[in-house]
Order: sequence, then C-alpha cells, then structure tokens
Amino acid sequence: MKIRVGVAGVGHRGLGLARALAKLEDVEFAALADLSPQRLESAAQEFNVERTFSLISEMLESVKLDAVLILTPDLAHHPQTLHSFEAGVHVLVEKPPAYTVAEVEEMAAAGERAGKHLMVAWNRTYALQRVKALFGDEPPEVLLANYVRPEPAYLGLIRNHIVDPLYYLCGEPAEVTAQCDMFNAQREGHTLANIRFQCGSVGSMTSSFGSGGHSEQLTAYGNGYSVFIDSTSRGNGRIMRGGQVIETLEAVDSSAVQIRHFIDCIKDDREPLTSGRVAVRIARFIWGIMDSAGMGIPPLPEGEPGWLMWCMCGDKVISNVERCPRCGQEWDGWSLPVETIRKT
Ligand SMILES: NC(=O)c1ccc[n+]([C@@H]2O[C@H](COP(=O)([O-])OP(=O)(O)OC[C@H]3O[C@@H](n4cnc5c(N)ncnc54)[C@H](O)[C@@H]3O)[C@@H](O)[C@H]2O)c1
Repeated sequence: MKIRVGVAGVGHRGLGLARALAKLEDVEFAALADLSPQRLESAAQEFNVERTFSLISEMLESVKLDAVLILTPDLAHHPQTLHSFEAGVHVLVEKPPAYTVAEVEEMAAAGERAGKHLMVAWNRTYALQRVKALFGDEPPEVLLANYVRPEPAYLGLIRNHIVDPLYYLCGEPAEVTAQCDMFNAQREGHTLANIRFQCGSVGSMTSSFGSGGHSEQLTAYGNGYSVFIDSTSRGNGRIMRGGQVIETLEAVDSSAVQIRHFIDCIKDDREPLTSGRVAVRIARFIWGIMDSAGMGIPPLPEGEPGWLMWCMCGDKVISNVERCPRCGQEWDGWSLPVETIRKT
C-alpha cells in the first residue's frame, strides 16, 4: 500500500525534498500547498499532482493523507505542525522546528497525543550515518565542528545545523560554556561553544560568517580513529587509523536518505532518528548555548516584509529585500509579512 503524502511549501528547499519524494515508488504524491500560485502551478506540473491548495489546512480538509512535509519558512512550522497533528497525519518538518524550546515541546507532545510521528529534517544526521556506525556504542571522545556562512544569520539558524551532528554523535550536553559576538540586534556574528557531554566526551563548535565562503567541517577522534568530514551536509571525508587513511567517505544525498527514512518510519511504525523527542533535546542544547553566551531571541518584526531570506544561489542570508541581490530571484516565501507566513 502506498503512503499518501502532501507537500506544503515548494520553494527553494521544498522543491529539493519534493523531488526526492517523487522518486519513491511506495509513495503517492497526493497534494500540494503553497501560498504562491506560480510556485504551486509549476510544482503541480513537475510532479503531476492535481490537488493543489494555497493553505495546508485546506489540503488536509480536502484530501485524505497519511503524512505531510512542511517545507515552509521557519515561522510557519509550529502552527502548521500542530494543525497537521490535529488532522491525524505524520509530519516531517524542515529545521528549525520552532524558535523556542516551549514550542518544540508543544510540537513533540502534539505528535505523541495524535499517535503520529514527528520528524525534523535535520539532514546532517542523515549524512553522517557511516560516522555514527563507525563509533557504535562508544561515541567519539572529542568532537570539533565548525559552520561558516558568508553572511551573518538570524539567531539560531546556524546553530541548528551544527548542533544536530554534535547531538547525533555524542548525545546530550552536561555542561556548555559559550561566547557570541552579535553582528547587530537580529543577526549573530561569531559563536564559540565548549561542551562536556553527558557521555563524558568533550567537544567544541564555532559558527561564524565573513570568511571566504560556505564551509562546514567536523572532526571526530576516539576509539583509535580520526574522522575528518569536509562537509557535514554531505558526509564526505576520510577515516584514519594508525596514521593511514583506511576509508574515503563519499558524499551522501542526505535529502533522499531522510525522505526514505521518514517513509520507512511510517511504514514500520518506528521512531525517526530526528524525532520530536530528539528535537526537544536538540532545541534545549541550542538554547543552552545561547543562554551561556547571553543571547536572547530578538522580537519578531511583525508586519514587516523581507525579514529573512536564504537564496540557494549563494547561501546568503539577507534581510529586508524582496529579491536576491546576487541572482535577481524573487522571494515569494520569506519576503511575505510574518502574519501571512504563519497562516495554516
Ligand atoms: N535543511 C536544509 O539544509 C535547509 C536549507 C535551506 C532551507 N531550509 C529550511 O527550509 C524551509 C523553507 O526554506 P526555503 O529556502 O525553501 O524558503 P522559500 O521562501 O524559498 O520557500 C518557502 C515556500 O513556502 C511558501 N509559504 C510561505 N508561507 C506559507 C504558508 N503559510 N502556507 C503555505 N505555503 C507557504 C512560500 O510561498 C514559498 O514558496 C525553511 O524553514 C528553511 O529554514 C533547510
């Protein structure tokens, strides 16, 4: 029996995950929702989907679905996830699930109440499965991770991607000491955190901007192995032992792996690796770093368009523009007013 899936949000990221979904033979791509009529029409043609809606609530009322992918801007994730659980479907939601720990807790609890799975699309977990398997039950003794983007980002955006692999490989923190320079009132500058994990391992993370370009690496030492990951989103790198490279890690299509994982978890009724329960722990980890660095969440600019955008052409995070200054691409999603984005 095919799993019937609806997709909400077919923007830059949404299209990539929708393409991975469309390749699965045990899935029926049953419906689409997006506020932008142009994006909706173009995606409906590409995926040959007849049922299209502007809002996720209309899609859930009109089409019988087993699951939804919520690939809309960050601020829509919390209300749309709660709405989807009320409608009784499984949810895969893009990262970050929400901007506060309390909201993430609420989303996880709603999934449990509904008896449905919540999975957060923290794709670094799905790119690092070989590293996790290498260390098995004995986590790396030392983890060093860095995440660099050319432009400063809104709070929490960067750390989502760097804390996900730290949690995946070493678990929950026992102690965090962090420093951060803010770029301005809303965008983080450079963050550095030292972590003692509950398992006894130690780690550090940096997230920063203004370098020569986008980079994100991870190094793990332990159990006689050194692992050097060149890109945590792709998992490519090297494993060394005894001074020799013993394995070269090829890049992984983490979008395809995570979509497959979500569907398998629904079919086998098992907890996803990045489940609601895990999301709460990762959210506490992220906010632990922020608390230690003395960072708060800035107020959302209600009523203002063009708040936060990330154009895939150059990994830029930009505020207060309606099109990407680099490639000219118009932004239908992030450039909407906050109240509109939050509509379910
Ligand atoms: N995992 C990753 O590596 C990764 C990379 C990029 C973006 N993301 C995340 O993916 C999400 C989407 O980002 P994006 O870059 O694709 O944004 P985008 O603006 O390109 O696309 C968002 C789409 O959602 C639609 N939309 C907005 N509000 C809506 C609503 N209330 N109901 C229905 N549709 C709505 C917009 O019209 C737009 O087409 C964000 O949460 C972002 O943080 C994750």
